[in-house]
Amino acid sequence: MSVPSDDIAIQAAGVTFAYPDGTRALDGVDFAAHGGEFLAVVGANGSGKTTLMRVLMRLLRPQAGRVTLGERDIATLPAGELYARIGMVFQNPSDQLFAATVEQDVAFGPRNLGLPEREVAECVEAALADVGAAALRDRPIHHLSFGEQKRVCLAGVLAMKPAILVLDEPTAGLDPIGEMQMIELLRRLNREQNVTMIVATHELDLLASAANRLCVLARGQVVRQGPPGEILTDTESATAMGLRLPLIAQLFHELTRDGLAAQPLPLSIEQARAAIAGWMAKGPS
Ligand SMILES: Nc1ncnc2c1ncn2[C@@H]1O[C@H](COP(=O)(O)OP(=O)(O)O)[C@@H](O)[C@H]1O
Ligand SMILES: [Mg+2]
Repeated sequence: MSVPSDDIAIQAAGVTFAYPDGTRALDGVDFAAHGGEFLAVVGANGSGKTTLMRVLMRLLRPQAGRVTLGERDIATLPAGELYARIGMVFQNPSDQLFAATVEQDVAFGPRNLGLPEREVAECVEAALADVGAAALRDRPIHHLSFGEQKRVCLAGVLAMKPAILVLDEPTAGLDPIGEMQMIELLRRLNREQNVTMIVATHELDLLASAANRLCVLARGQVVRQGPPGEILTDTESATAMGLRLPLIAQLFHELTRDGLAAQPLPLSIEQARAAIAGWMAKGPS
């Protein structure tokens, strides 16, 4: 797990956003991600996660409050500067992919920056290698599976070498193996390239242990923030926040009721293994 540095990479202060039909999706949201952090923005459907991600990317302009990237208000940042520093992977690849082939799609960003073709090719190659999609390079986009499309979207954003990545439900629609691979990939990018991760998800099973911090949204407001182990302590409090505990935590919650103590609840297989080793060391009670 990466240790976040003290500097705030991106911050929202008092952000309120209502859609044109009057739906208030964000209501005074204060939120900050630190450099190198892996932050999961969680909450029930409709809690405002996607809206917040779009506000951070300036795709939606809040009616009140502001978003700052480092010291600068994103409202006044030139687009080139903003999108060189922060990239977003949308929930639905069809909202993102538009070129005919994988290579053309991933090359679009760096080419748009005016990089020489040799450098564009290097960026594309590195980004595709990062997501394990080098073999897809010449494939037409519309021949790809959903999971492959997701990885190509990620490659397209990585080709711009952003310091901050915003991902909206990156595991939605993937099969269990694809889901694990995606989380592992995000962990690796965070750890090895120190990319700040802001991941919106309603699916905590795998992300709870990848994230170093959770930010819980409910009805457009931040209701809790903190380490996953602190927030996901029991099913009742999680349910009250519109969350479902990871399966492994649910299992241990049940076992705890049977008299076996495990606090904080394990959120991953490794943590479960440590808890069980603790029980074994104590011997039969
Ligand atoms: N284009 C839109 N027009 C009107 N209301 C919307 C629109 N998009 C989302 N909403 C509403 O805004 C609220 C937050 O939605 P959203 O940000 O998509 O939540 P989440 O991503 O957590 O599911 C919900 O009440 C949703 O119905
Ligand atoms: Mg959403």
